[in-house]
Order: sequence, then structure tokens, then C-alpha cells
Amino acid sequence: MPAELISGTAVAARVREEVARDAAAVIARGVTPGLTVVLVGEDPASTVYVRSKEKACREAGMNGETIRLAADSAQEVLEALIDRLNADPAVHGILVQSPLPKHMDENAVVRRIRPEKDVDGFHPVNVGKTLIGEPDAFAPCTPAGVQELLRVAGIDTRGAHCVIVGRSNIVGKPMASLLIQQGADATVTICHSRTRDLASHTRQADILIAAVGRPSMITADMVKPGAVVIDVGINRVNDASAKGYHLEGDVDFAGVSQVASHITPVPGGVGPMTIAMLLRNTVRAAERTLERQAAGA
Ligand code: GUN
Repeated sequence: MPAELISGTAVAARVREEVARDAAAVIARGVTPGLTVVLVGEDPASTVYVRSKEKACREAGMNGETIRLAADSAQEVLEALIDRLNADPAVHGILVQSPLPKHMDENAVVRRIRPEKDVDGFHPVNVGKTLIGEPDAFAPCTPAGVQELLRVAGIDTRGAHCVIVGRSNIVGKPMASLLIQQGADATVTICHSRTRDLASHTRQADILIAAVGRPSMITADMVKPGAVVIDVGINRVNDASAKGYHLEGDVDFAGVSQVASHITPVPGGVGPMTIAMLLRNTVRAAERTLERQAAGA
């Protein structure tokens, strides 16, 4: 029987409704949650992502603005902008769209953002808080979105063997951090480009999470029958269509959907969840501003 589809589009719409309600409650207390996205250069995929983030903010009743810098901007210019946004009380969340141009030091940029405004969850303070399970951590949006998808689809991670393929700082590592926490209680394996006999690991997964950025690399023979398969990959694959490309996940959907019990599509799976969780983090950041004000801090 073909796998049941887990629709990120539907789950993200629900999260965004909740976020809009939470945002309205914050607005009623006199503060409009605001996200500022910084885009350096004109990478086509980043330009599309940034536009959707800004639009999603507005649709949730929040302030969303994008500040664009030229691709040849100096590191100091970007850091001065971050300092200004750090100090601006109307800005609750700051996101610097990745990838940055090659001459920039991305680590230094991430560290420059105040952890309280780091709604991407990339600052080492939030990375550490996520790992040790502190409740005020901003968890990175994509792994948080995967966890929400699993929760809403009724997939119990407790005691399950979750195999993550990919060890990036924005998906693989934080995904493991979230799944090993008490409450999530998964047994986690992280595989990467140097893993020997990858398929021997993926075939053991009750829940397989692919986040490598290689189109259709997870094939049906690598999946245990009945496994839940989450595809984080969004790869542009050139083709002869009018657009010149199509989007493809890391999972060979046609083959794997014949073996898995549940699967996320690309597009319409994990992708929409990332933005929904970003909005959620931004409202949380604004709520915490109010809490700090109330506490006189
Ligand atoms: N580029 C692709 N995904 C992301 C993301 O979640 N955050 C940032 N800052 N850049 C990205």
C-alpha cells in the first residue's frame, strides 16, 4: 500500500493560524511582533525565500521587513546593521539569509545577533540551550518544523530509532538535539558523507530523516518497510521545462512511497514548516520582550 502523505502545507497553515492568534494577543498588549530579514546579494533561491518570509509575517498580522545589501558589501556594514537591529525595540527577530557571499564570515555574523533576537536558532547560545533542553531556547526552524509534523501526524518518537542523514548545523545536528530530549525520547543515529555502508544504517530507521541536499539519493532499498520518511531536501534540478528546473527532495519519492508507511512530499512537506516555525519563534521573542518589561528587566 502506498505511504500516507504528511502534508506540511496543511500543518503549516494550522501553525500559522495559531501564530496569528498569539500575535493578536501580543498586539493587544501594545507590541507588534516584528521580523527583519537581511538579504545580502541576489541569490535567486534566497530572494524567493525572503519574499515568502516577509509575506508570511504580514499575513500573521506581524511586521515583516527585508533589508537588502549589495553582494559586495563589507562585513563591517552588515555587522553595523545587525548592531542597529539589535538595539531597535521594534525588531524582535533578526534573520540573516544564508548563504552569504564568500568574502563574508558567516559565523561572526551569527554571533553578532543578540540571542534573544536569534529566531533562526543559529547562535551558539541557542544551539547550546537546544542541546541541553532549556525551555527558552530558540530551536532552529526546520528541525522544529519536522518535530511538529511528526507530532501532528501522530507519530510517536518515544523509543523509536531515528536515523538522520546529514550533519549540518541547521538541520542534522539540531534535529538530533531535539529528538534525544526527554519527552521526544528517540534513539538517534546521525549519518554523513563519511558513513560506511549508509544503507545498513538507514534500513534500521523507524523514522528516517533525509537532509543532505542530494536529489533522490534515498532509494526504496534503503528504507525499512513501514518506516516514516521525512524529506528535508529541496534541490533545484535543471530540466527542459519552461522554468528550466524543478524541485526534488533527497528522497526518491516514487520508489520510497511504495515502502514507507508515511512520507513528506517535496514541495509541500518540510519547506512550509520552516517559515511557520520562524513566525512562531518571532512571536515568542516578542512575548518575552513583554515578560522582561513586566519584570522590570
Ligand atoms: N537559508 C536557507 N534556509 C535558511 C534558514 O532557515 N535561515 C537562514 N538564515 N538562511 C537560510
